[in-house]
Amino acid sequence: MKKILFLLAFAVLGCKSNEKTVEPTGLVTSKAMVVSAREEASQIGVEIMKKGGNAFDAMVATELALAVSHPQAGNIGGGGFMVFRKANGETGAIDYREKAPLAASKDMFLDEKGNVIEGKSTATALASGIPGTIAGIFEVHKKYGSLPLSEILKPVIALAERGVVVTKFQAESLAYYRASFIKSNGKNSLFSKAYKENDTIKYTALAATLKRIAKNGRDEFYKGETAQKLVAFLAKKGGNATLEDLNSYSAKWRTPITFQYKNLKITSMSPPSSGGICLNQIMEMIEPFNLSQMGHNSVKTIQVITEAERRAYADRNYFLGDPDFVKLPIKELLSPSYLEKRMSDFSFDKASKSSDIAPGEIKGYESKQTTHYSIVDAAGNAVSATTTLNDNYGSKIYCDELGFFLNNQMDDFSAKPGVPNLYGLTGSEANSIAPGKRMLSSMTPTIVEKDNKLFMVVGTPGGSTIITSVLQTILNVYEFDMSMQEAVNAPRFHHQWLPDEITFEPNSFDKELLTNLKKKGYIINEKNKEIIGEVDAVLVLPNGKLEGGADKRGDNKAVGF
Ligand code: DON
Repeated sequence: MKKILFLLAFAVLGCKSNEKTVEPTGLVTSKAMVVSAREEASQIGVEIMKKGGNAFDAMVATELALAVSHPQAGNIGGGGFMVFRKANGETGAIDYREKAPLAASKDMFLDEKGNVIEGKSTATALASGIPGTIAGIFEVHKKYGSLPLSEILKPVIALAERGVVVTKFQAESLAYYRASFIKSNGKNSLFSKAYKENDTIKYTALAATLKRIAKNGRDEFYKGETAQKLVAFLAKKGGNATLEDLNSYSAKWRTPITFQYKNLKITSMSPPSSGGICLNQIMEMIEPFNLSQMGHNSVKTIQVITEAERRAYADRNYFLGDPDFVKLPIKELLSPSYLEKRMSDFSFDKASKSSDIAPGEIKGYESKQTTHYSIVDAAGNAVSATTTLNDNYGSKIYCDELGFFLNNQMDDFSAKPGVPNLYGLTGSEANSIAPGKRMLSSMTPTIVEKDNKLFMVVGTPGGSTIITSVLQTILNVYEFDMSMQEAVNAPRFHHQWLPDEITFEPNSFDKELLTNLKKKGYIINEKNKEIIGEVDAVLVLPNGKLEGGADKRGDNKAVGF
């Protein structure tokens, strides 16, 4: 009833009471834009659109250019998700998430006592799921591409051959992981060498692999020489993937999650990502509160968002998994009356306790590096894609012969119910390991429409923090009148039910605010240097121009024309 009254009031009052004109502070262009983790990748995506390619062609180019220029997350040895909105308003999504090999089993990361063996799901060849990236981009190109693939791959191959300059961020990252690379791959592997800022790394083996893919198509990766070499390499490293696993991999078109928040229509990723469902739950729970009046990052705003996040993540961890393997109560989880009830015990006086918040009761139900890029083309087609090896450089196992890192996405399964993974997320039976199953994700590539027109393309890496960073970026623009660039740069916080704490970006929130929250019973974590995303987004301005939001937290860059 409250919800109905609210909606009526909302219909009378309009969308948001104080719509202001906001000056852009990011790159503004009039036709097309790519925002990604590396300038080289954004540049190549834009180059493809300048040649007459559409956003889907640019996606293929950007995804592969990131595999070259941003090896900690860009990949052909991993997987991802893409949500799109065509200029005619049609929306859709593709799932190119990795799958567990056929030889995988529920207890494969447990010892004989049933305890999780540390590192087995993250730093071994068994940590890798069957990669989906090549299948994903070929499927997208087959359905929506307009330029020949050979033309799209040309600048990517040239970049790999020419080499990529090491940035300051990258030099730090490579130095940090060097010991792990040496441990996994020996002293002579490409990434075992010491690199410093401004060095150029040439990716000769990757260029050769990409050339074979350009020549022989998708099957080169799943059936051809590359497939055979990959299986032999993994076997040598103690993995269990077979040619049959690669042969049988396919990317899947999925119906995205679509929902309304005031006068925004939001389209985001459906399972096996939890992103769209969690975002929908959180936004539905916070909608009745007047956040713009409460103020950006005020005590009250942080309370409302935290409590909605707490409840949504409790549901995520219990109910969600691969929809091809488990029945998911999506309709129930997204029902407004269920979500209204879920927030009914929230009070501004005192923090809820995660130990008191169980997953909701659903009737009839039994039971650290990724990268995102956002693209808009000159015709108004939009692509939002998040792609990952899971952890930085995946399992750290690098195949020198083929030129790429292998993911450690198997860690996104729940190795044992209740035991946290790399991102502190616990899971249940719904996300247990099974042959051919996809592991639950938090990736949240999202497209926002306002008054039925394209408004924002947004997404980020950050493991479990992805969903809450996407949420805050949308709210920063819509509720708190920030430009796209300001919205992306603004300090962020995060709650994920368990552990029962709010993570704040270090040194970004004032002490008094944190003290006030502590007084209400919130546990504050400001020490954890956990990544809180690197959002890359595009906003369509009222005059139709595009503003890029390239996160200051990395090498992110908007390029356009
Ligand atoms: O799919 C997921 O949710 C994770 N594998 C994403 C990992 C990630 O974002 C790491 N980034 N910083």
